[in-house]
Amino acid sequence: MTEPDILINFIKNVPKTELHIHIEGALEPELMLKLASKNNLKLKYASPEEIRKAYRFKNLQSFLDIYYQGTRTLITEEDFYTLTLNYIQRAVRDNVIHAEIFFDPQAHISRGVKFDTVLNGIYEALRDGRNIFGFSGELIMCFLRDQPEDEAMRVLDMAISYTDTIKGVGLDSAERNNPPSKFSRVFEKAREHGFLTVAHAGEEGPPEYVKEAVELLKIIRIDHGIRAVENEKLLQSLGRIKIPFTLCPLSNLKLNVVRDLRDYPIRKIMSAGVLATVNSDDPAYFGGYVNENFLALHGALNLTPAEILTLAKNSVLASFMDAERMSMWIEKIEDIYRHTFLSS
Ligand code: HPA
Ligand code: ZN
Repeated sequence: MTEPDILINFIKNVPKTELHIHIEGALEPELMLKLASKNNLKLKYASPEEIRKAYRFKNLQSFLDIYYQGTRTLITEEDFYTLTLNYIQRAVRDNVIHAEIFFDPQAHISRGVKFDTVLNGIYEALRDGRNIFGFSGELIMCFLRDQPEDEAMRVLDMAISYTDTIKGVGLDSAERNNPPSKFSRVFEKAREHGFLTVAHAGEEGPPEYVKEAVELLKIIRIDHGIRAVENEKLLQSLGRIKIPFTLCPLSNLKLNVVRDLRDYPIRKIMSAGVLATVNSDDPAYFGGYVNENFLALHGALNLTPAEILTLAKNSVLASFMDAERMSMWIEKIEDIYRHTFLSS
């Protein structure tokens, strides 16, 4: 095998986690059509190809408009189960061993789908994923930041009886003009009830939103965070606390957050001390799962074996898995690295 092939195989085979995946964003066009037909819903599109052709996004909002249309096909517990189990099967092929999965209850409750229907379907699939593949999954419930605070408070109240099922809460949807401060009280209450907290910040919103998310919402991991690079002082302060960023290269490219992956600032982020991770965001919409994100980044930036090792280890270190599993996976990753690159 040539050296580049060895590196590409290492990217594909190294165990990794995924920490930024919206389960509704893993709805592949084939399943969307199947569910639409089963649930007697009319879609604008007749084939997976037609659907994929419509996935040309100008910005975050133009994506969200289509994404929320797609979520309408998810109605029964079984729909959420199938969606989630399909994601797990696909992630396992990328050697993803653990995922912390976002879900958007408000996108479903607003259409009359019950909170329990969503949660039970997803949770059953996580249980089967563990039994069938040894895959571990955690759930992070997201609040839609373009909806009112009191609505977020209401879904938080629903989640409070499920603290054994839902590990954390997050903040997603349209970021512009919806600063983290809008949800200070919601996040404070979530923390009081033991939920871990993350938030999308600095995807389309300014660096100040990243600062607010950390200081006001007291989040322990930042989703995206990429626009923090525009403020050197902020980036350095985030590096000092070694906070993780869940970066999503293909998403950022497709939503015009970055123009070209060759300019992707991951090295700048890593050298500041931030724990950078690579994730897929909405893989069915942005053209790839975790390994495709790694490979696209590698194609653009020519990542070194040591950088890939760091990113794989970061994905474990930035996760919410327990300390014992964490050190087991770190050892495994280092072993595979040594066998691949240092053994002859
Ligand atoms: N950004 C913000 N909100 C979202 C996204 C995203 O990429 N996907 C689903 N909700
Ligand atoms: Zn996201």
